[in-house]
Amino acid sequence: MQKKFIVNPWEVKGDVDYDKLVKEFGVQPLSEELIKKIERKAGEMHLYLRRGLFFSHRDFDVIMEDYEKGKEFVLYTGRGPSGKTHLGHLIPWIFTAYLQEAFGSKLYFQMTDDEKFLMRDVGLDEAVGYSHDNALDVIAAGVDPRKTVIFSDVEYMKTIYRIALQVAKRVTFSTAKAVFGFTNSSNIGIIFFPAVQASPAFMAQMLEKRDVNCLIPCAIDQDPYWRIARDIAPLIGMPKPAGIYSKFLPGLRGVGGKMSASEEQTAVYTTDPPALARKKVMGAFTGGRATVAEQKERGGNPEVCVVHQWLYYMFEDDDKKLRKFWDECKQGKILCGECKKYLADRVCRFLEEHQKRREKAKKEVEKVMIKD
Ligand code: TYM
Repeated sequence: MQKKFIVNPWEVKGDVDYDKLVKEFGVQPLSEELIKKIERKAGEMHLYLRRGLFFSHRDFDVIMEDYEKGKEFVLYTGRGPSGKTHLGHLIPWIFTAYLQEAFGSKLYFQMTDDEKFLMRDVGLDEAVGYSHDNALDVIAAGVDPRKTVIFSDVEYMKTIYRIALQVAKRVTFSTAKAVFGFTNSSNIGIIFFPAVQASPAFMAQMLEKRDVNCLIPCAIDQDPYWRIARDIAPLIGMPKPAGIYSKFLPGLRGVGGKMSASEEQTAVYTTDPPALARKKVMGAFTGGRATVAEQKERGGNPEVCVVHQWLYYMFEDDDKKLRKFWDECKQGKILCGECKKYLADRVCRFLEEHQKRREKAKKEVEKVMIKD
């Protein structure tokens, strides 16, 4: 029997069945043909596409058809800055940077410090502080600073508010309740907030009077916001924003669910010293047997192994090597310690490079961040 799972903007739990999610959310799977279109334009296939980490979309086909006819699109993505950035958050940003380079698009990046203040145990100034801190990771993920604006909602609200009002006027409380599960005990700030998160999807058109489409790369948990934005778009004379969605990178302690910033030991943060990250990876949940003898005799279970998933989605480009790990695990020829060490080396190298770019980003961040 399929175990229960939950996916919404504030909670991802359980063993997520992505095929089921595609049906429940009413999104489209990413077809081979669409993936090929991106590859042709980018000149290379991104690992996240090849391995199906980005797996579904809304109207990405429409965006591509329009693009081929000469209509450009802007990119929009974001972060709810309630703490440090972890590796899962980087996935949509690295992919956004790839799309930005391929299509030359301007990127609008929203820091929803207001949302996190309303929903989490985090102070207002603290959340705004994280907006500036996390912006370093956005730049380090490879976005083009000349074609990117990053803004904290709290610091840019005067501009956002005019758009949010247009949205909010067209969304009833009953729709918001149905989409987000608000109840009588939800605070009234968060009830308005979906209008704030929808707003950047219309910024290029409303603020710059550009006749463009908007594409939102993110993990699938954010889709409820875009359902609302897409419903009201025609009512305010705007094109429906399109989305391209990823699965979740799991935390180190179990496949299923997503890496969560609040679970220190299961998340690798971008600012973790490599030695700490190594320790966390060496403590990962694997598909290993209880004893070495049993592992050698019966083989392991790569299907449920986090280490294998991390290699598959993010850290091992080479199909042959990956296959070798899988086969040797199944045959009991390799033990979990070896796989963990291999992954830890990869993660540490990634962090060292990311942290160098993060340091450099300190010089540019205030130029990329816009305020009222
Ligand atoms: P937040 O801060 O929860 O997440 C930031 C981005 O990271 C994605 N994400 C993940 N992707 C892969 N694996 C994971 N384990 C993982 N965890 C999180 C999220 O889908 C998101 O794309 N309300 C939003 C902030 C926001 C936003 C946006 C996000 C505002 N505007 C536009 C995407 C697009 C939030 O709290 O994201």
